[in-house]
Amino acid sequence: MTDAILQQRDGGLLTLQLNRPDKKNALTRAMYTRLAEALEQADADPQINAVLIQGSSECFTAGNDIGDFLDQPPSDLDTPPFHFMKSLLNCRKPVIAAVAGAAVGIGTTLLLHCDLVYVSRDAHLRMPFVNLGLCPEFGSSLILPRLLGHAKAAELLLLGEGFTGEQAAAWGIATEALSSGEATLAKARQIAERFDTLAPGAVQITKQLMKSVDREQLRQVIEEEGALFTQRLRSPEAIAALSGFVTRR
Ligand code: COA
Repeated sequence: MTDAILQQRDGGLLTLQLNRPDKKNALTRAMYTRLAEALEQADADPQINAVLIQGSSECFTAGNDIGDFLDQPPSDLDTPPFHFMKSLLNCRKPVIAAVAGAAVGIGTTLLLHCDLVYVSRDAHLRMPFVNLGLCPEFGSSLILPRLLGHAKAAELLLLGEGFTGEQAAAWGIATEALSSGEATLAKARQIAERFDTLAPGAVQITKQLMKSVDREQLRQVIEEEGALFTQRLRSPEAIAALSGFVTRR
């Protein structure tokens, strides 16, 4: 079986590559667990200066594996998707994301917690939570209205409208939009490697300062969203929508 999370270390950079191409890199519980462990190790390892999260030059991720949501919906916050997001939130090292192709659901949400986000202009991002009978997750109901204003955020969260990498960069969800998937991966790597030349202590303190203002409020919102999300997964609305995706195929 191929490894669905590829890990590579170059100098002080740890690259985590989502590698489940036949399922558009949809994230399984095992993949979340691997990602969480890798992020925790990177956080603790003084030799690691930055973490790069990427998919391929054609696809970032189609979000949570929908079969997993139906078969074993997370029942509380002590489950793999929450472990992963907690380790991302708690990571003191800079996390850089490289996004090409689809970034759906948690594939978009997780970008809100990365430090630098490079996207291909034609990447397609979407948070179709309402469309699936679900609700926002991991702080997106707090962060997006702040970033975009309520009316624009409502288009993304209430209607589940998709948007491009170019729009993500214009709205401040991404750092920069690039011409292709290859260019995106190359730029993200080039930037991530720069952390080997910067003072790690100063980088970590700066990240901590940038994140500390909202930390408590964010934690509360994530808990509230998480409790509602796990309830929603068991709702007839969500079960019908998620089953619809599976049976359509
Ligand atoms: N969970 C499980 N499997 C998924 C998946 C997901 N989230 N997203 C895609 N796949 C699987 C498909 O079932 C298909 O598998 P099959 O070949 O065995 O039938 C394969 O990946 C390719 O998907 P497909 O839809 O044919 O690719 P596409 O290029 O036409 O579309 C997406 C790509 C990402 C736009 C589309 O797959 C999609 O919308 N996926 C659902 C995303 C989603 O709603 N995620 C949110 C979860 S909260």
